[in-house]
Amino acid sequence: MRDTRPLHIVGISGSLRKASYNTAVLHAAQELLPAGVTLEVVSLDGIPLYNSDIDGPVQPAAVQALKAAIARADGVLIATPEYNHSISGVLKNALDWVSRPRDASPLIGTPVAVTGVSGGGFGTVRAQNDLRLILVELMGLTMGKPELFFGPAARQFDGDGNLTDSAKRAEYAQFLDAFVQWIERLKIAERAPA
Ligand SMILES: Cc1cc2nc3c(=O)[nH]c(=O)nc-3n(C[C@H](O)[C@H](O)[C@H](O)COP(=O)(O)O)c2cc1C
Repeated sequence: MRDTRPLHIVGISGSLRKASYNTAVLHAAQELLPAGVTLEVVSLDGIPLYNSDIDGPVQPAAVQALKAAIARADGVLIATPEYNHSISGVLKNALDWVSRPRDASPLIGTPVAVTGVSGGGFGTVRAQNDLRLILVELMGLTMGKPELFFGPAARQFDGDGNLTDSAKRAEYAQFLDAFVQWIERLKIAERAPA
């Protein structure tokens, strides 16, 4: 039985494309999450390419906004495309920004879930593995199981980006339930006396 306190999740899509399937995955989560859990989709649009010359005590506004969104969230759901067997440059670049300064990243100790959709039948298996490794370095607390791979996208989503595959919707709802439980378990651990 779920703790009834409201939870807030931030959804990050690794694609900037207007008709992105990965962004569509996040919007589908808004329909499938348990009652009392909200999901805000944040865009990576406007995040500059990482360059330490423009990094410092005051980071670019788009980076500050992304980091603030993560900092106020109870958990982060990342939907990554697969580009040449790994995550997109857009997502890696954003995570590089979020990781700085090293000891003050809002991802440190934050519950994270990863998923993703691609056009192919292997549906981001390799990209998600790479993302999990990156999140180890960023000290996000990534949910191990269940894993969730969408694809081929055109078979599971309609032309308007709605997740129409009913089996996949059911699997996704279970995945989101597990993520909510993961967040709550970590919150209890955080509150426990050392
Ligand atoms: C540069 C590039 C590389 C890609 N490499 C892969 C790949 O390695 N494996 C795969 O399944 N799909 C690959 N794709 C297809 C994308 O996964 C597909 O276009 C997906 O829909 C992109 O996500 P989006 O809809 O959220 O933009 C690639 C696409 C691009 C543009």
